[in-house]
Amino acid sequence: MTDESHKIAVIPGDLNGITVTNAVLELSKAVAPTLNKQIVHTELSYNADYFLEHNITELGEKELDELKKYDQIFLGAVGDPTKVEPGVLELGILLKVRQEFDQYVNLRPVVLPKGVPSILVGKGSEDINFEICRENSEGLYCGIGWIENKGTDNEVAYQLMRCSYKGVKRLAEFAEQRAFARKKSNKPTLHFVFKTNILKYAASPWIRVIEEYSKRSDIDIKLMHIKPENEIQIGTRYMHVDNFGMQMIIAPEQFDVVLTENMFGDIMTDIGAVLQGGIETAVSGNINPTGKFPSMFEPIHGSAPNKWYEMDENKNYIPGTFLPDMVQLIKPEAAFLSYAMMLHYLEEDIASEAINEAALANIRDPNYKTMNLNVLVEKACRHVVKAIKN
Ligand code: IPM
Ligand code: MN
Repeated sequence: MTDESHKIAVIPGDLNGITVTNAVLELSKAVAPTLNKQIVHTELSYNADYFLEHNITELGEKELDELKKYDQIFLGAVGDPTKVEPGVLELGILLKVRQEFDQYVNLRPVVLPKGVPSILVGKGSEDINFEICRENSEGLYCGIGWIENKGTDNEVAYQLMRCSYKGVKRLAEFAEQRAFARKKSNKPTLHFVFKTNILKYAASPWIRVIEEYSKRSDIDIKLMHIKPENEIQIGTRYMHVDNFGMQMIIAPEQFDVVLTENMFGDIMTDIGAVLQGGIETAVSGNINPTGKFPSMFEPIHGSAPNKWYEMDENKNYIPGTFLPDMVQLIKPEAAFLSYAMMLHYLEEDIASEAINEAALANIRDPNYKTMNLNVLVEKACRHVVKAIKN
């Protein structure tokens, strides 16, 4: 391989992940003629079978060194509870790569495409149009914790929320750049979302960074109020996360770029997924903005074992029960859109736009919910071919 190509590591993962990744690889062929550089996809089988075969609970140096060789990573979805206990692959692959590769932003747009019915009465695509920058390397998901007196009546468990000044600051810098790049209005706006009233310790760096932003903005940090508008370039607001959850539903139009702690972002972006038309349309980029390590792009939906396996009376999945027709019910659009986001980061904007539009055309189709996978992939391929011709 030479520098003449984009080198992409592809981790299909398990179940839904494999299906949507196949669909993405199929669609990617259609954009080949528009690319500045050819894309070379290399499939890496890091999934439940791999963990069983190698008897591991997380990716090790070998796998991480392999992944470092690529420009970017595309991931389908991991998790197959009939093979590996739930949580192991999520922690051992997703969280491991996010942290080891310092992918400190999880960029999750919440954009309801034009022409797609809104779940919110009276709010349409002009209202639901913002981005959440989820802190992706620390917070409550930093992996630090301990258990005292395990198994006794006095058991007490602790899970630490690590928030660093540098961590919040670099996230804010990224969010600010996004706000200027997306140009939602004349005045880009950042919403810092946390829980500064209760999480006294973890809030300290958040408050420091908000204070820094407030000096050049229109927020009154002492009162967490908005000062009268003045001549500033970027609007800064602060919101407690519980209020944010409510505001997303009642007045989503007020948001442009939102930045928040890791777990808050995890939870809020699932609500965001529903606002933008469903989890099958929600995209995420685990970004290392420095480019020191590859970024990783993935649909927000998981591998959906509940759709693939029947359960016994104890609510255990029954291995091998899945129906082959299941595959046709899977929606590949979130994966298409994530791949498009990756193309954008590879500076392949024509291809990115073509795939983006093809995915949105599928989602807009009035029969979308009942269309099967083959039809959706074919339709998207045709859309891309046509867009490229024009
Ligand atoms: C997500 C997922 C992951 C997360 C899990 C599977 C580790 O829920 O990407 O939102 O919490 O980050
Ligand atoms: Mn999640």
